[in-house]
Amino acid sequence: MPIRSILAGTGAYLPSRVVSNDELARTVDTSDAWIQERTGIRQRHFAAPHETAAFMGTEAARAALAAAGATAADVDGIILATSTPDQAFPATALRVQAALGVTHGFGFDIAAACAGFIYGLSVADNMIRAGGAKGVLVIGSEVYSRILNWQDRGTCVLFGDGAGAVFLRAGEGSGSDRGILSTHIHAQGTLGDILYVDGAVGQHDKPGTLVMNGREVFRHAVTRLAESVEEALAANGLGHRDVDWLVPHQANRRIIDAMGRKLGLPPERVVVTVDRHANTSAASVPLALAEAIGDGRIRPGSLVLLEALGGGLAWGSALVRL
Ligand code: UT7
Repeated sequence: MPIRSILAGTGAYLPSRVVSNDELARTVDTSDAWIQERTGIRQRHFAAPHETAAFMGTEAARAALAAAGATAADVDGIILATSTPDQAFPATALRVQAALGVTHGFGFDIAAACAGFIYGLSVADNMIRAGGAKGVLVIGSEVYSRILNWQDRGTCVLFGDGAGAVFLRAGEGSGSDRGILSTHIHAQGTLGDILYVDGAVGQHDKPGTLVMNGREVFRHAVTRLAESVEEALAANGLGHRDVDWLVPHQANRRIIDAMGRKLGLPPERVVVTVDRHANTSAASVPLALAEAIGDGRIRPGSLVLLEALGGGLAWGSALVRL
């Protein structure tokens, strides 16, 4: 039997500070009605100063390890997706490694914006299948509240902070075909200017804030994500009817609903957190996954389709049997 990456545990962390649309509307020229109608967002969580990507990623990772019944000794590697790292280096993954008390193995960050978690899952899965690691933490952790332009109402109302994590364990596929069936990642750098951060530590002390052409990103998201989920199903000889759950990137309720309709899934089979978390970029898919597994909606044996798209453009999908 080939080696499979079994999704052994999931974990999540959200800052305690909840910010409603009405609270934002006190300082930004917007309204609760506009935000809800155009995006489905009702509120988001914003990090306190101590809640960095490393801090939140560590908390989510601890929860994922506990859910998997695993300890620091079981972690061969940590892959952390973030656009808001604590420092240019060391990698935020290594700050998490130290905080977890893991003293062996590898760790690195992935910069693929909102697609970062799917990218991380893909890298980890390929390493596990090749026998290069037996236990890998894949984490998405973001503090977008620190890179938002508060003068731009078209973007600053869309994002939130948080972290999600999964612990992958190498296992025999067995007759039940549990584990990651396949991952599919793509990028088109020529579209880098429709969603980006206009600075970085390498650029003359200009940390930068997020810039987005929302309509263009929307247009590409609907097309690329639809292609990507079809690609995942075709690669496994499966059809729409085989999918039990869609766990999509949480950028906009209208995009999520369009994807659900394309797959012919009833709304109750699509995990939605964008109303409460807003867009947490690389953290959005693992946060949604952790919530739906944690509350018992997604059960062992379910076939789950994950997808995300973001700045780069970078996008991808993954098909997982729980
Ligand atoms: O996670 C990475 C991937 N990101 C995405 O997938 C995001 C994709 N894009 C979107 O979700 C949507 O394009 C947005 C939610 C960003 C914007 O929605 P839209 O329906 O495309 O609105 P729009 O940008 O076309 O703006 C419509 C109107 C404009 O006014 P005019 O020019 O028609 O008078 C904007 O100025 O809405 C106005 N507007 C706002 N009004 C109140 C834009 N932002 C706001 C706001 N509050 N916050």
